[in-house]
Amino acid sequence: MSIDDIRTGPTSAPDTVRSEPAPTSGVSRRVVSLGGIGLAAVSVGLAACSSPATQPAESPSADDGAATGSDPSGAAPILALADVPVGGAVAVDIEGAPSIVAQPEAGTVVAFTAICTHQGCKVTPADAKLDCPCHGSQFDAFTGEVLRGPAEAPLAAVAVAVEGDNVVKA
Ligand code: FES
Repeated sequence: MSIDDIRTGPTSAPDTVRSEPAPTSGVSRRVVSLGGIGLAAVSVGLAACSSPATQPAESPSADDGAATGSDPSGAAPILALADVPVGGAVAVDIEGAPSIVAQPEAGTVVAFTAICTHQGCKVTPADAKLDCPCHGSQFDAFTGEVLRGPAEAPLAAVAVAVEGDNVVKA
């Protein structure tokens, strides 16, 4: 039976529609009275009831690594390991940033920003130390720690590694 069946049925009572105020539960009700036959339509807002448990779970696919193109063995060399003196350091650019790469022991490399933590001048390697030409600060080339102020904070480390004959960004 449809609404049209009800409307065309043998009744003389007028059709009425009235809305009732929504109760506090968030459920609204609309009552339609058709010729003495009462129908109630109830709607419930479900949008606010969805939970994360109903969301589809993301699952890793076999080609995730290929899609990003990330290949840890494909890092571009910063410089040749042979160009970094053992027990010393050299100034280089790492991804466009002035940096220092040092080799405290044969085959072990560390790197730091070359920007002085005092007022931003560029430090220069001097054996196992890094000198700032602006106000005389001095840093340890193997740890980045301040050896002499006015700088108070150490140089920020940059992650590097030895890969084959080269130093690369880690
Ligand atoms: Fe380096 Fe001042 S900027 S000591």
